[in-house]
Amino acid sequence: MIFRQLFDSVSCTYTYLLASRRGGEALIIDPVLDKVDRYLQLLDELDLKLVKAIDTHVHADHITGLGALRDRTRCITVMGEESKVDVVSQRVSDGDRIDIEGISLEALYTPGHTDDSYCFVMDDRVFTGDTLLIRGTGRTDFQNGDPYAAYDSLFNKLLKLPDETLVYPAHDYKGDTVSTIGEEKAFNPRLQVASAEQYAEIMTSLNLPDPTQMDVAVPANLRQGLSQDEIEARGWSLTAEQAKAVVGQPQIVLVDLREQSERARHGEIPGSVHAPYAELDENIGAGGLLHELAEATGKRLVFYCAYGERSAMAVTAAQEAGLENSCHIRGGLDAWKKVDGQLAGAGGP
Ligand SMILES: [Fe+2]
Repeated sequence: MIFRQLFDSVSCTYTYLLASRRGGEALIIDPVLDKVDRYLQLLDELDLKLVKAIDTHVHADHITGLGALRDRTRCITVMGEESKVDVVSQRVSDGDRIDIEGISLEALYTPGHTDDSYCFVMDDRVFTGDTLLIRGTGRTDFQNGDPYAAYDSLFNKLLKLPDETLVYPAHDYKGDTVSTIGEEKAFNPRLQVASAEQYAEIMTSLNLPDPTQMDVAVPANLRQGLSQDEIEARGWSLTAEQAKAVVGQPQIVLVDLREQSERARHGEIPGSVHAPYAELDENIGAGGLLHELAEATGKRLVFYCAYGERSAMAVTAAQEAGLENSCHIRGGLDAWKKVDGQLAGAGGP
């Protein structure tokens, strides 16, 4: 496995790059905008294809690299469904899995530091964001932080992981790089409390100054959405209303780019072909399923996904691959639901 812990010395942020093999798919956790060139260089040096970029929560102390990485690699951006960021490509909730080739992370919803904080468990380790730091815990005094929720996330979720689980936080200010759940239980001063009330007392009496970049970072981090205007200006876009009018017509092929878990949870537009975004390049290239389908039948490919991000990137790639009769549904299934579009297969696990 390739596992890199990368450091931004300005915000003391740790960013994690994971891949199962050289030449394979990679994912990145908590990237920092100023370091994006370095990540891209490293991805190139290790011959990795970045497919997912995840933020554990909306950061207040640095600007995220999520949007820049998406624009430069066409990777999927992932955050929790509670996050107030305008658009990401994929949203997860407690217990969901984030998969790439050879690696699977389990999402744990751990509110408290913020109301959109997640931790991600991978085999012997957990990426704790700012929920659990080494000998510390994330502050709870802004972004809908809540010390009682933090206590619950720490004591009833994170500390229930096996003691030997490695703890990789999103920050460290003292130079520590890794700990374990057992070590934190024993030595983290914030965790030596007998009740949620006692924990809340500690957290509300910290009186910390705001992070220096907070006024810039939070608004920037809430606006990560890919602009879908240019795609629309090129005529490659249908509104959800327009899509409703053409769905079911014989010259249309609806292509669902989401993952199976998203389809099971949220349903699909009836009659969709499933072609996950991760397999897009093969599917739209010469000889690929979608390429052949479009060529052989002359039908119009209508891509859609959860929020219109993956489909906007897919339609651009499809046009570049010569599939000129392709478009996408602006705003994705989210917009489709808002105009009461018909759904099939919803309500799965
Ligand atoms: Fe944070």
